[in-house]
Amino acid sequence: MRTPIRLLILLAALPAISSAAEAAHQGDRNAQALAVMKASFKPHGQADMDRLKQDTTQALCSLHAPAMPTGEAASKALAANQASVKFPADGKFLGDWKRGQAIAEEGTGFQYSDDPAKPSGGNCYACHQLDKQQIAYGTIGPSLYNYGKNRGQSEPVLKLAWSMINDMKGYSLCSAMPRFGAKGVLTEQQIKDVMALLFDPASPVNQ
Ligand code: HEC
Repeated sequence: MRTPIRLLILLAALPAISSAAEAAHQGDRNAQALAVMKASFKPHGQADMDRLKQDTTQALCSLHAPAMPTGEAASKALAANQASVKFPADGKFLGDWKRGQAIAEEGTGFQYSDDPAKPSGGNCYACHQLDKQQIAYGTIGPSLYNYGKNRGQSEPVLKLAWSMINDMKGYSLCSAMPRFGAKGVLTEQQIKDVMALLFDPASPVNQ
């Protein structure tokens, strides 16, 4: 018996129908999860309820998690995150590596118990190896040991590192790395200092 043509068309369309249904279902689950979080979180000091508001990138990543969003919406979000990075007004990318090391080791900031008037740390060691002296480092991110030694200090290299530290979500849309400049975690001067930690030949990163 031959399969009726209409059935064939329906079968061909099934994957599209089921992925649209799956996306709608995922959307429901996200809305339910958000409702639970809104009901159970209490604002406390600087940790206010606005922490639950997602920007376009975060909403896209939640919608597709654990998969990576792809397609036009994802490309647009990547491009917008890259385009919003501000380069240093004085054209100098590198500050003081010693201050940068203190920032990389400092994990305070943004918790309800932290003083919002005090500068935050970068907590880079929580995710990255940076030098040979520090033995307790996290491995969520790649090792940054010899970062500057391996790459030199050409303008494109400095600009790329600056952009990634300011907003890794311009390069890896659902990155676990904090968006240090884009979300105001570190000041421009602090980012210059961690840049110096990565690039200064005298920094322990390059020893
Ligand atoms: C919560 C974890 C986390 C923290 C904290 C973190 N990073 Fe990252 N970082 C990552 C991950 C993960 C990547 C890899 C890119 C990706 O997949 O998102 C990365 C990548 C990078 C890269 C790009 C490496 C390359 O391939 O060229 C640089 C530079 C970097 N991080 C610098 C820093 C600095 C400086 C700090 C502290 C101010 C920091 N990171 C803090 C997770 C983190």
